[in-house]
Amino acid sequence: MTLNDSRILVVGAGLMGAGIAQVAAQAGHAVRLYDNRAGAAAAARDKLAQTLDGLVAKGKLSAEAAAATLARITPADQLTGEADLVVEAIVENLEIKRALFAELEALLPAEAVIATNTSSISVTALARGMQHPGRLVGMHFFNPVPLMKLVEVVSGLGTDPAVAQAVFELAGRWGKTAVHARSTPGFIVNRIARPYYAEALLLLQERAAAPELIDACLRAAGFRMGPCELMDLIGHDTNFAVTSSVFAANFFDRRFTPSLVQQELVDAGYFGRKSGRGFYRYPEGPPALPPVDIAVPSAVRLAVHGRGAVADRLFAAHPHATRVLDSDWIGLDIDGRHLRLTDGQRAAELPRGTAVFDLPLASGGDIAYAGDTDTAAWLTTLGLVPRQVADAPGLIVARTIAMLINEAADAVQQGVCDEAGADAAMKLGVNYPAGPFEWLARWDRRAVVALLDRLDQHHRGERYRVSPYLK
Ligand code: NAI
Repeated sequence: MTLNDSRILVVGAGLMGAGIAQVAAQAGHAVRLYDNRAGAAAAARDKLAQTLDGLVAKGKLSAEAAAATLARITPADQLTGEADLVVEAIVENLEIKRALFAELEALLPAEAVIATNTSSISVTALARGMQHPGRLVGMHFFNPVPLMKLVEVVSGLGTDPAVAQAVFELAGRWGKTAVHARSTPGFIVNRIARPYYAEALLLLQERAAAPELIDACLRAAGFRMGPCELMDLIGHDTNFAVTSSVFAANFFDRRFTPSLVQQELVDAGYFGRKSGRGFYRYPEGPPALPPVDIAVPSAVRLAVHGRGAVADRLFAAHPHATRVLDSDWIGLDIDGRHLRLTDGQRAAELPRGTAVFDLPLASGGDIAYAGDTDTAAWLTTLGLVPRQVADAPGLIVARTIAMLINEAADAVQQGVCDEAGADAAMKLGVNYPAGPFEWLARWDRRAVVALLDRLDQHHRGERYRVSPYLK
């Protein structure tokens, strides 16, 4: 089965539908665009004409290509059965989508495919009651559709594998990277991304660090935005609704428990950027962190402990240090004081004078530590800017990355996607600097499991239970 030359009907000419129509037309398909709001489809086409004009003016698109794209899009004032593929991007409501599919099935030939852009509704549930449930598949685009490369191709229990494969290949022809996903709450991206927000919210709830510090540390680790500024951008109302729906859809598995910190922002109407206030005030955004001015105390004996990238980096910065490869910790011994890479133990559990530091994923920038500040000052010899936080196990980056890996591991174990799919989805759907399994390969599986186990012991709940896949 192929959809490569299919005639396309896009239903719903809102934010997503208009983008999907554009991408399909740019790939050469004849596209009809329908919306049940009178004039909406024509208005979406007019708006696209302006966007394309802008691209032509900037020299990013030829005038011919722009005209050809536009000529392929026809606003429709009623639903039509003249389509090989329908992409549905209407309101996110199970009953309304089901009613639309019933209407479409009465018009379409039996072999036509229906793809839904739903971001949160089960594809299995949407297919129930259809005459040909095998033809329904999820085709989950990301906003803004013309720019975001990822498409999750979501199969429900009854989806015909040939239909999923045809949509997968079509998305590739449209210049997207498609990833197969099984229909489960949050699919891939919205599920695996939960800990990125949840760990920050828990750190805030525990008063471990200020939002601007959490953001700075995760930005230094390579994320484009820290979790707090990102939630402010998405909108706390939207982000809280997604978290709540994933929580409910998992039968209230406590791992996905929404946060009281975020609930309070929603209650206050502090939705983020769009309401002028969230964690931060806008347009100002996150306040700058104060400059750090700490001197490295003098030392007589230095020893680099442990193996791996962080130990190698320490040794490169201190080539005259002794190397203790077979150590049960990673870091620097400075005249008997320990500067240790976090393994989930808190500084307070370790010998006096110890500082525990966060996972340094990049070559510079802010890094969290807990414990002794004189010891932590040695982090500056790695080009890092030490920032003191509360003595929370796993600090900020290590804890967040470990939890993203853990969630991805569970998703793979449960057959939601494969490892490569999880990596591609997180890099392309939410612009992560690396995929969870890429982080795992660079880190150390046993270290991740040990860190999660310590978090689990510290918090005693379901949140940090280790995925059997990692064990
Ligand atoms: P939107 O509100 O911008 O557009 C929805 C359009 O559908 C409106 O123009 C509305 O008039 C039309 N519509 C509603 N009921 C209809 C019906 N029965 N028949 C025909 N047209 C109908 O919404 P948006 O953001 O484009 O979302 C559409 C779908 O895409 C939803 O399922 C949403 O969950 C999903 N989605 C949204 C993303 C986003 O970032 N906004 C990202 C990925 C998926």
